[in-house]
Amino acid sequence: MNAHSPSKPEIGPDLKKLHIKTYGCQMNVYDSERMLDLLRPLGYEVSDRPEGADLVLLNTCHIREKAAEKVYSEIGRLKELREEKIAAGEGRMTIAVAGCVAQAEGQEIMNRAPAVDLVVGPQAYHQLPELIARTTRAKGERLAADFAPDAKFDALPNEREVSGPTAFLTVQEGCDKFCTFCVVPYTRGAEWSRPVAAILDEARRLADKGVRELTLLGQNVNAYNGADASGADSTLAKLMYALAEIPGIDRLRYTTSHPNDMGDDLIEAHRDLPAVMPYLHLPVQSGSDKILRAMNRKHGRQSYIDLIANIREARPDLALSGDFIVGFPGETDKDFEDTMDLIRQVRYAASFSFKYSPRPGTPAAAMPGQVSDEVMDARLQALQSLILEQQHDFKSALVGKTLDVLFEKPGRRDGQAIGRSPYLQSVFVENAAHLLGQIVPVRIEAVGPNSLQGALI
Ligand code: SAH
Ligand code: SF4
Ligand code: F3S
Repeated sequence: MNAHSPSKPEIGPDLKKLHIKTYGCQMNVYDSERMLDLLRPLGYEVSDRPEGADLVLLNTCHIREKAAEKVYSEIGRLKELREEKIAAGEGRMTIAVAGCVAQAEGQEIMNRAPAVDLVVGPQAYHQLPELIARTTRAKGERLAADFAPDAKFDALPNEREVSGPTAFLTVQEGCDKFCTFCVVPYTRGAEWSRPVAAILDEARRLADKGVRELTLLGQNVNAYNGADASGADSTLAKLMYALAEIPGIDRLRYTTSHPNDMGDDLIEAHRDLPAVMPYLHLPVQSGSDKILRAMNRKHGRQSYIDLIANIREARPDLALSGDFIVGFPGETDKDFEDTMDLIRQVRYAASFSFKYSPRPGTPAAAMPGQVSDEVMDARLQALQSLILEQQHDFKSALVGKTLDVLFEKPGRRDGQAIGRSPYLQSVFVENAAHLLGQIVPVRIEAVGPNSLQGALI
C-alpha cells in the first residue's frame, strides 16, 4: 500500500460502507451509478442507509431553491450521525457533496457547512478516488470542478453494474440555450457530445449484461452531435440507428429535448426505426408568446404546436410529455390561460410542472413582476388537474389494446411482475415473474392512478 501516491488510495482489509443519496434529474442518477462503479474497486460497498457509513455522497440538484436547500439540512443530519459514529468508536464518516449544488455553490458550501469534507462538481467526479484519499489525510481539501467532460468519460471504468433490463446512458452534457430561469448552463457547462464509438462501446457492454432498453441522456439530448468514425458530426437519429443494430438493444428512449433541436431525421426515426419508443418529453414551459420571449426559449407558441403536429404525423400514437413553469415573472392570468389553452390543444400523456423559483445569478431572478406564491399555487393546481385528466384519457384509451411490455422487476404479489409499456407507463401483470428481462405482449385490462393492469395472452 502506498500512502503517498494520491492516485493509489489506501484500501483497508474490510469493505468500507458507502451511502449515496441522489437528487435531481436522470443524469444525476447516471452519475451516481458511475461514481459507484468508480468507488467499488476501492473497497466500497453500498449501504442503503447513511448510519454507520464511512463515506456519504450527496449528489445534488440546484434547479429550484427547495432542491438546493435540502442539501444543507441533510448535511446537518449527517454531522450528527458522524458524531455518533465516532462516539461509538467506529471511526470517521467522510461527507462529500457532488452534483450541481457543488458546482454552483462550492465555496459557499465550504463556508456554510464546515462538516463537509469535499466538494466535487459534475465534470470532476472521476477524480473522486484521489480526492477521497487526500481528504482522509488532510480534511477540508477541495478541488475546483471545471474539467472538460471528455476527461471525465475517458477516466471512468468500462465496467458498469446494471440492475435490470433498462439503463441510462449519458450521450451529451451541458446546455448553450440559457433560458433566463435556468441554472443548468452554469452547473453543467457548455454543450458537449460524447463520440459515437464510446457510446456504442458502453451500449454493447450493457447489452452483454442483459440490458434491453437504453434511455439516452443529455440536458439537450437532441442537440447531440458527437463525432462518428470518420470524424464527422453525427446526429441523435444516426446514433440511434447504430445503437439499434446492437444485438439485445430493442428499445431506445431519449431525454431531454429542446423543440428547436427536433431535426427532421429524428422525427423520421420515430416513424422508421422500430426501436425508438413512441414517447417524447418535449418541454415547452409556457403557452404565452410574451413569456416564451422573456424566458429566452427562442421558439413561439405556434411553432411548438406545429412541431408536435409534425411529429404526430410521423408517429400518430406518440405519448407526449412536457415541463411547465407557472408564475414566471410577468405572467398574467391571460398568459396562464394561454398555457392552459396550449395544453388543451396539444394533449399530454404526462407532464412535470413547477412553480417558478428564482435562482441566484439567472436573469429572470432580477426581472420585475415576480408572482406571489398564492397565485402560483392556484395556477399549478389548475394546470395539474388538467394534465391529470389528459393523462387518464390517454391511459383509458389503451384498455383492451395489446402492448409490448418489458418486464423489469418482480411486483409485491407472488408471481406478479412490473414492466413498462412503450409509452413508459408501469404495467402490473400477474403470473409473469418468470418473464423478467423479456418483452412480451400484454392485454391492458384496467387503469390505476400511476399504472396499468394487464394480463398475458
Ligand atoms: N433542458 C433540461 C431542463 C432541465 S430542468 C432538461 O430538459 O433536462 C427541468 C425542468 O425544470 C425545466 O424544463 C423547467 O420546467 C424546470 N425548471 C428549470 N428551472 C426552473 C426554475 N428556476 N423554477 C422552476 N422550474 C424550473
Ligand atoms: Fe435549462 Fe433551457 Fe437549457 Fe433546458 S434548454 S437546460 S431549461 S437553459
Ligand atoms: Fe438538477 Fe443539475 Fe439535473 S441542477 S435537474 S441535477 S442537471
